[in-house]
Amino acid sequence: MTLIDGKATAATIKAEIKEEVERMVAAGGKRPHLAAILVGHDGGSETYVNNKVRACDECGFRSTLLRFEEDITEEELLSCVDRLNQDADIDGFIVQLPLPRHIAEQRVIEAIDYRKDVDGFHPINVGRMAIGLPAFVSATPKGILELLRRYDVKTSGSKCVILGRSNIVGKPMSQLMMQKGVDATVTVCHSRSRTLKEECLQADIIIAAIGQPAFLKAEMVKTGAVIIDVGTTRVPDASRKSGFRLQGDVDFEAVAPLASHITPVPGGVGPMTICMLMLNTLSAAKHEYYE
Ligand code: GUN
Repeated sequence: MTLIDGKATAATIKAEIKEEVERMVAAGGKRPHLAAILVGHDGGSETYVNNKVRACDECGFRSTLLRFEEDITEEELLSCVDRLNQDADIDGFIVQLPLPRHIAEQRVIEAIDYRKDVDGFHPINVGRMAIGLPAFVSATPKGILELLRRYDVKTSGSKCVILGRSNIVGKPMSQLMMQKGVDATVTVCHSRSRTLKEECLQADIIIAAIGQPAFLKAEMVKTGAVIIDVGTTRVPDASRKSGFRLQGDVDFEAVAPLASHITPVPGGVGPMTICMLMLNTLSAAKHEYYE
């Protein structure tokens, strides 16, 4: 069994990014600049955004964090998005989700200039990715693809089962896995799937992204399967200073002995997600996809 080390892979990629940034700056170019909008005080979102800001430092990027209270109006938030759209120094920006219930998330996403949409959530980027055109791709699926590549996992002709159909992970992952060059046969299962266990048992690659702690059990996994765990649910743990630990969607202890490759939680997919956001920001600064 090979443990897929997302933390080490992400560190390698961030060092590669930093090297390229310093070369760009030395040649008289502009330092890439990522902005993040954070609304409210959700613990998970605060941690994610802080980690993104820290990753910017590691990559030699500038970063700007814009914080708003929970009671910001949709109009105020949209005008902030518009300011960032117009700001020539900002190469890319993200609006951390989820947003408070009184704000229409989709309206905010669609207000972002698609050329600065380094999260890859704007319908133009989603659509372009789906038909194989250059585009910003959602960071988690992009990071998973990069892990499969760097660990030489054979995807061509393989049967890949994706658990979960979210806009951020499941849906884009399914499209990337079936793309030319990746060439997997893809099945997407979700909460209403009747044959979920049977599908999983046939899979060469299982990508679990349903947000249910330890959902994928040993009896659902074929010997030699590649297991990618996207889950990061906070479960109470009195032995930790924080009072919680992160639990993936995979019953790791039981599944790992069967797997040919498996990602741990934490230290698997998570660090790669932030790293791919950095790569998207670098692409934005270089105008790699759009003028
Ligand atoms: N909330 C959970 N994941 C993400 C992400 O990748 N980007 C943003 N903006 N919000 C999130």
